[in-house]
Amino acid sequence: MKRRILQFLREAPDVISGAEMSARLGVSRVTIWKHVRSLQETGYAITATPKGYRLAEGTDLLHPWEFPGREDRLHCFDEVASTMAIARDLAREGCPAFTVVTADRQTGGRGRLGRAWHSPPGGLYFTVVLRPNLPAVFSSLTTFAAGLTWVRLLREAYGVHAGLKWPNDLLVQERKLSGMLSEMEARGEMLTFVNIGIGLNVNNAPGRQTPGAVALAELAGRPLSRRDLLAGFLDRFERCMADPQGLADIIARWKPFAVTLNRPVKIVTTRETVTGIARDVDETGALLLER
Ligand code: BTN
Repeated sequence: MKRRILQFLREAPDVISGAEMSARLGVSRVTIWKHVRSLQETGYAITATPKGYRLAEGTDLLHPWEFPGREDRLHCFDEVASTMAIARDLAREGCPAFTVVTADRQTGGRGRLGRAWHSPPGGLYFTVVLRPNLPAVFSSLTTFAAGLTWVRLLREAYGVHAGLKWPNDLLVQERKLSGMLSEMEARGEMLTFVNIGIGLNVNNAPGRQTPGAVALAELAGRPLSRRDLLAGFLDRFERCMADPQGLADIIARWKPFAVTLNRPVKIVTTRETVTGIARDVDETGALLLER
């Protein structure tokens, strides 16, 4: 019901009356009014005028009903410490593949190598649970697939010429647009789940906290819908993961978008920092470095 009401409000040239919505949905005006009130309570800027209801432009909220067909697998929060922790609990409890945890802000967002991921409002922060039928040694192929999905989506649907930095950062003009973190568990040698956590700078201003970072809104010159970005990513990524060949040649398909191959690089791990020329990526996703 909420989804249909939002659809009417978004399609209305100006306002839409409660009477019209109640007729089109076959429910009473009181029911419409109750749903509108509940939408207002969850953050939608809906105003009631004498002629009907109006939704303010630019409302960009992540709620399950904004993702038709995915409602049961989406867990949307205003604020959490980290979506990784919630997704890990859900995965251990046996949630289905493509369960997604989103948060408008994180108070303890985690990055790679034990770093913090600053997560103010306006960014897109989520973790997706995957259950690929794969040996654990190939777990990182899933993050390569996620990175490739983003690059293609951003290029094809948003005109943003993003590239990939091994292992899975998205860069635009050498500035970091997005980072990815993965966690996995295995039984024997086979994966039970891989959780991929993604932070994408959308309408936030990351440069203040993180020099060298960039947000999509800055590149596009206007705010963008996190909902549309997430829906577009999940649809493409789920198709890729459902395809039996989806991961088979993923490294070969990833390489043309890699911006760091055949360039001098500095690799920082939790144990050491090494420099060399990034020559290639092997079939497990490991970087081959010439020293
Ligand atoms: C990195 O580049 O260091 C990886 C950053 C990953 C950040 C995302 S935001 C959603 C998910 N929850 C977290 O706490 N971290 C990941």
